[in-house]
Amino acid sequence: MPELFTWEFAADPYPAYAWLREHAPVRRTTLPSGVEAWLVTRYADARQALAEGRLSKNPVHHSEGAHAKGKVGIPGERSADLMTHLLNIDPPDHTRLRRLVSKAFTPRRVAEFAPRVQQLTDHLIDGFAAKGEADLIHEFAFPLPIYAICDLLGVPPEDQDDFRDWAGMMIRHGGGPRGGVARAVKKMRTYLLELIHRKRGELGDDLISGLIRASDHGEHLTENEAAAMAFILLFAGFETTVNLIGNGTHTLLHHPEQRAQLQESLARGETALLATAVEELLRYDGPVELATWRFATGPLVIGGQEIATGDPVLVVLAAADRDPARFGGPDTLDLARRDNQHLGYGHGIHYCLGAPLARLEAQCALGTLLTRLPDLGLAAGPEELRWRGGLIMRGLRTLPVRFAPE
Ligand code: HEM
Repeated sequence: MPELFTWEFAADPYPAYAWLREHAPVRRTTLPSGVEAWLVTRYADARQALAEGRLSKNPVHHSEGAHAKGKVGIPGERSADLMTHLLNIDPPDHTRLRRLVSKAFTPRRVAEFAPRVQQLTDHLIDGFAAKGEADLIHEFAFPLPIYAICDLLGVPPEDQDDFRDWAGMMIRHGGGPRGGVARAVKKMRTYLLELIHRKRGELGDDLISGLIRASDHGEHLTENEAAAMAFILLFAGFETTVNLIGNGTHTLLHHPEQRAQLQESLARGETALLATAVEELLRYDGPVELATWRFATGPLVIGGQEIATGDPVLVVLAAADRDPARFGGPDTLDLARRDNQHLGYGHGIHYCLGAPLARLEAQCALGTLLTRLPDLGLAAGPEELRWRGGLIMRGLRTLPVRFAPE
């Protein structure tokens, strides 16, 4: 049994996941927090678990109950009472809230946002293009999604730097000290409630106004629900996208031939390869290593393994997406891969609500970066790159690069 959750594991968890898939596909494991959970690593089992109605998202079903408080879910969210968000609830509440948010957060709204994402991307690259070097996480991957989601929600420009600071606190300390994170979450909630209240008096075209306006059979979101929704859009859409841009660039820099093909296709003005490339980068080294917590509400069987009521189950998306039973040559990067129904955005009723926005941002960020800085190269060896140690997400702390100044 390979050791999990060490620094070596964080740098390359895939060999350990291959072992688990083969020898212990549904394995009870003690996590670094001390909580015990089942890790599900095969693709077929992962898909079954993600769509399993007897696995609840609500932590009240955790057998450790109050003992596990603060060890599952998003740090700080309990103290700030932001619990009623999509990733923590089951039908029928989930169905109601998801239907309401889907009326406001539409694919059309995302498509109309494309020019703004391009503008933000160019502006951020302008900030370092003349230097010939940059840390792509801090100067590019980190600010892009936070400013994008703030704009989409309708957070006024003068307040966006506060959001950047709060988000920075959450991403830096997500798996570590909780005091600062809890404070950041609290500030964010107070701010969002105040903003929602203000917007109610003067509705605009932004997503928060859309959330306030959305109604379904006469039902609306309460102000608390709208705040929790804005919070989860920020939280779910931020670090994930940072990591998709970071991990994706990192992977491309390690596969020069495929990267060259992608650059050639971009130079010809084609977008088809960029679209399949982003999906393959998600499959190959995606931002969400483990899907968020699930708890058995009754006894059930996954992959032949009995799971008892109250047991937590973690679906290892990163392992499932390298399962040779589902993907040909799973450890090979193939930017043109067609048969690619990866689980990087989850599956079932909690399937990523922000997938269209994530695709838009990643395609814009990676496409523009490779076009504007075609000789982009890593400025650090593998031993100098540090991965953030959180449980759910997989992403780099820094990504130093060099290039010919623009
Ligand atoms: C849910 C991945 C970007 C909003 C999820 C889930 C995954 C995921 C795996 C399901 C988690 C589970 O079932 O436990 C990703 C990835 C992204 C990304 C890889 C970027 C590359 C975004 C963005 C937004 C967003 C940009 C919004 C602005 C959400 C929401 C949910 C969700 C609200 C909860 C949906 C529900 O429970 O019904 N995402 N996400 N995500 N995502 Fe994303």
